[in-house]
Amino acid sequence: MKPLKFSPSIGISVFFASALILGALYCYFLLEEVGTADEELVAAHLSKGPDDFPIFAYWISGTGGEGRKMLRLLKAVYHPRNRYLLHLDAGCSYVERSNLLHSVRSERVFRTFRNVEVVGQSYAVDRAGPSAVAATLHGAAVLLRLYTDWDWFITLSASDYPLVTQDDLLHVFTSLPRNLNFIDHTSDLGWKEYERFDKIIVDPNLYMNKTEDLVSSTGVRKTPDAFKLFIGSPWVILSRPFVEHCVHGSDNFPRKLLLYFANVVFSTESYFQTLICNSPDFRNTTINNDLRYFAWDDPPGLEPLFLNKTHFKAMIKSRAAFARKFVEDDPLLNKVDEKLLGYTPSEGGFGQWCSGHSTMNNVEEDPCLSSDNINLVRPSTSAMRLKSLVTELISLERLNSNQCKF
Ligand SMILES: *[C@@H]1O[C@H](CO)[C@@H](O)[C@H](O)[C@H]1NC(C)=O
Ligand SMILES: *[C@@H]1O[C@H](CO)[C@@H](O)[C@H](O)[C@H]1NC(C)=O
Ligand SMILES: *[C@@H]1O[C@H](CO)[C@@H](O)[C@H](O)[C@H]1NC(C)=O
Repeated sequence: MKPLKFSPSIGISVFFASALILGALYCYFLLEEVGTADEELVAAHLSKGPDDFPIFAYWISGTGGEGRKMLRLLKAVYHPRNRYLLHLDAGCSYVERSNLLHSVRSERVFRTFRNVEVVGQSYAVDRAGPSAVAATLHGAAVLLRLYTDWDWFITLSASDYPLVTQDDLLHVFTSLPRNLNFIDHTSDLGWKEYERFDKIIVDPNLYMNKTEDLVSSTGVRKTPDAFKLFIGSPWVILSRPFVEHCVHGSDNFPRKLLLYFANVVFSTESYFQTLICNSPDFRNTTINNDLRYFAWDDPPGLEPLFLNKTHFKAMIKSRAAFARKFVEDDPLLNKVDEKLLGYTPSEGGFGQWCSGHSTMNNVEEDPCLSSDNINLVRPSTSAMRLKSLVTELISLERLNSNQCKF
């Protein structure tokens, strides 16, 4: 790729144009205020540097009937260092969205650390369509704008759940180069080349208020030859530099590709994969794994199976950081809480930052509301499993043979 050359004045107008677009985006999708505490006080306590623990930015999306699942997931992945943005799409009622907001606001911990936001205005999303990619990019744009300090962007759905504590995840990621992207990908498209890429679909959720089914057209088009298509898991952990490249990079490839993907079914399984593997600056930062556990039917269907207690052993064996899909309040979730997250609902039991005693003016304080411990992390045995998986994935010979094979 030739280096991009443009005069400073064009550079400045590009900058202002993107700032305007982002500004419009942000104002349109007003966020609901959650916190009341002194934000600067918390920020002052948060240690941030190359040797400190990283910060994760979570984009958690869901639809009608998933508000309670989303709240449970939020608590299970909560840490005061991290940033969270929740979105319930137009498949969900106003009442459900308000209930979620109310529940988030009523947690003192979330109010104290001011790191949870809820997208106030909903819009239609079809998870099988490009509107889902648009939603993820929206989440990324808002998180970039709201918080200047996070290192990795993690996408979750309300049907996901962690298999490690945030202490574990922070511990494992702290020794990794901050530019790594965990993204499952292959260029071996098989039957999907014709079914997914040559066929043309239209996603009405890009221009209608209410959720509508995808429309398939009878026309077909050629497989692109200007770039190589990649496909993989829709669930990703992306580095901040790559997310910035996607949202407001001066390279036009992310936008051109987005327009191409506007007519591709299941584009969340391919947009980021194709983008990163065709970007010379980022190709070498890929780790070909999404760190998730799924169980598939035989033969596999379009969606993974709902997990139950029979999957517990395989889930642990996978050494993954997250698993999906779960039905609301499945007994397996209690088992994960108890055995893997060391979580006791009565005590909150979030992690090391929330343990011990805290006193203010000789009065016993809730330790979870104190920012004294937010830089303390105590990994559990689950961290060892995840660490061994990650170490294996980034060992050199595996990296070379697994990165964006054309
Ligand atoms: C669709 O949503 C927009 C933005 O919220 C609103 O202004 C408009 O009135 C809605 N249209 C209908 C038909 O509900
Ligand atoms: C990426 O890796 C390839 C093969 O190891 C190497 O030729 C290339 O220069 C690397 N690109 C960057 C941007 O580091
Ligand atoms: C657990 O899930 C598997 C696979 O979906 C299913 O065959 C089995 O019946 C389920 N078991 C229970 C106890 O629900």
